[in-house]
Amino acid sequence: MDKGCPVPCESRTHTVAAPHQNSRAEPNAMAARAEEGAEAAAASGRTVVCVTGAGGYIASWLVKLLLSRGYAVHATVRDLSDEKTAHLKRLPGASDPQGLRLFRADLLDRGAMAAAIARCQGVFHVATPVPSGNLTDPEREMLDPAVTGTKNVLEAASAAKVRRVVVVSSMVTVEINPKNWPKDKIKDESCWSDKEFCRNNEDWYSVAKITSEEVALEYGRRIGLDVVTINPALVLGPLLQPTCNTSCQFLIYFLKGGPDRIRDKLWHIVDVRDVADALLLLYEAPAASGRHICAPHSVGARDLLRLLKRMYPGYPCVNEDSIIDMDNHAPMTSDKLRKLGWSCRPLEETIADTVGFCEQAGFLCDLQGAHCRFPPVYNKI
Ligand SMILES: NC(=O)c1ccc[n+]([C@@H]2O[C@H](COP(=O)([O-])OP(=O)(O)OC[C@H]3O[C@@H](n4cnc5c(N)ncnc54)[C@H](OP(=O)(O)O)[C@@H]3O)[C@@H](O)[C@H]2O)c1
Repeated sequence: MDKGCPVPCESRTHTVAAPHQNSRAEPNAMAARAEEGAEAAAASGRTVVCVTGAGGYIASWLVKLLLSRGYAVHATVRDLSDEKTAHLKRLPGASDPQGLRLFRADLLDRGAMAAAIARCQGVFHVATPVPSGNLTDPEREMLDPAVTGTKNVLEAASAAKVRRVVVVSSMVTVEINPKNWPKDKIKDESCWSDKEFCRNNEDWYSVAKITSEEVALEYGRRIGLDVVTINPALVLGPLLQPTCNTSCQFLIYFLKGGPDRIRDKLWHIVDVRDVADALLLLYEAPAASGRHICAPHSVGARDLLRLLKRMYPGYPCVNEDSIIDMDNHAPMTSDKLRKLGWSCRPLEETIADTVGFCEQAGFLCDLQGAHCRFPPVYNKI
């Protein structure tokens, strides 16, 4: 199992805003420093790309991949503390003179985002809140950072004249109650979830993802900016960061069990390392355009539970009676991505690596302790 760089190493990673500095206060100075770094990277022949939300689950694997392929990476994070960035600084290649540069930037801080994106040739827009609990103020917590944040990133990318922007969307923009889509027809990139249905269901995560993907594609068409999107399924696989993200809590709940009921939904699943591969492919492949579903494996909740019980008989697991029947429609296809040359791991390997990692990280201990909860977002989407 690849767990990144487990041995801490002395980091010479460049940081553009020190933890005590307010990035809003000096955007010009930040931009100047970013330009110096980008010029040095260009002089060294490296392509400079920006990754937003770089400390997160998917983005950390992407940063690791980009550094291993010789890219210079401008990584945006909201918090420069070690808890959020030490795993990035330890990545192989991070401390190279033109390796990793960290930028403190909230999605709603246009100046800070622009400073991170200035002089980049490409942008991977990964950052979006992925709520693990209920939202109290969906506009502020979810819709604003997702939608206004995406606009800020696109405007900065356009000003920097980047070659391409790869935007991380989600399966939730494809598969939720699509209008005029026959029940038995395989879902492809022409299929859009029903945003009003999601809004009426108070499924704010999906409303935010649908709106931000629409905004991104429309902005690209209108301005002539090359924007491509990826629609990953539920993402599993080992983590590089020290904290457990929302989608891995999904699998932990299946193994630990808890008081929540879950639907027998047909889940599409993809490995986080395969998502990172797909993101880089979408940046590099000239033929990439529009949306790209990245959802290779599909399994119902009951079948997933059976598979987990067979692989891990020692865990209490979700009670089968707590699974509610559900009428599932035809799955999604990842053929468009595969035709660009993408391939992926088998589901069993992803599950084994996720569980192995979570056991080692201590996320699966305390089986008799506090109730484990199913992230509510997964009973909405
Ligand atoms: N995991 C999945 O199953 C899955 C499936 C399909 C699509 N996606 C999409 O993939 C992307 C990454 O998800 P993930 O699973 O890697 O989640 P994650 O680990 O929670 O990462 C989300 C990242 O977004 C950042 N972020 C949130 N709000 C922000 C804001 N206002 N300003 C700047 N950064 C902000 C977070 O920063 P902090 O660390 O500071 O909070 C974090 O780095 C998201 O766009 C998500 O919608 C995920």
